[in-house]
Amino acid sequence: MFVRKELGEDATGHDWYHVDRVRRNALHICKHEKTGDPFIIEMAALLHDIPDEKLNKTSELGRAKLDSFFNKIMITDEAKGHIEEIINSISYKGGQKTELKTMEAKIVQDADRLDAIGAIGIARAFAYGGKKGQSIYDPTVKVREEMTLEEYRKGKSTSIHHFYEKLLKLKDLLNTDTARKMAEKRQQMMLNFLEQFYQEWDGQDL
Ligand code: ADP
Ligand code: NI
Repeated sequence: MFVRKELGEDATGHDWYHVDRVRRNALHICKHEKTGDPFIIEMAALLHDIPDEKLNKTSELGRAKLDSFFNKIMITDEAKGHIEEIINSISYKGGQKTELKTMEAKIVQDADRLDAIGAIGIARAFAYGGKKGQSIYDPTVKVREEMTLEEYRKGKSTSIHHFYEKLLKLKDLLNTDTARKMAEKRQQMMLNFLEQFYQEWDGQDL
């Protein structure tokens, strides 16, 4: 309920339904891989976007929100520490690599990444782009290969560019076989989409 209330209004693709899909994907991966603590995984999936820098004025405020939630429930310090650690470590942030320490972190990261690709991923990219006022595509804009977190967040890009800057790369960054398997069809979906997009853009289907 807490998570639903905090995230319900957001239109950047970080909404309650995203969180719900990540939770479901994460528990699915956990079951198939037969590893990881489902309680930690479910909690981390549910809470992963609560302290997000884009949804809070400052990262301190986001962190405080998470803290106040933990204070309201019965949870061991160990579990709380583990969940916080997962939330802090899984974000993509322009491709910067962070070592994930636990199986639970790897599973939640895979679940979050699966929701950024495929048909849902396409929809989320354009929803995000619309909210930020960026173009769907601009052939004069260059695809950014390496970028700092600052550039990733602030630099000029388009939603189509985002596929090359992040979405198409995600399948090779997954941690578990179950997620890699799920990613195959989603990857193909994005590739087909892009091919058709350029054909229509160039009028090749006339
Ligand atoms: P992360 O925190 O993992 O870097 P975000 O939270 O920024 O990812 O992304 C939220 C959703 O919006 C994702 O589906 C992501 O692919 C999409 N998104 C992020 N940045 C852009 C962008 N510049 N253009 C289009 N979509 C984006
Ligand atoms: Ni997320």
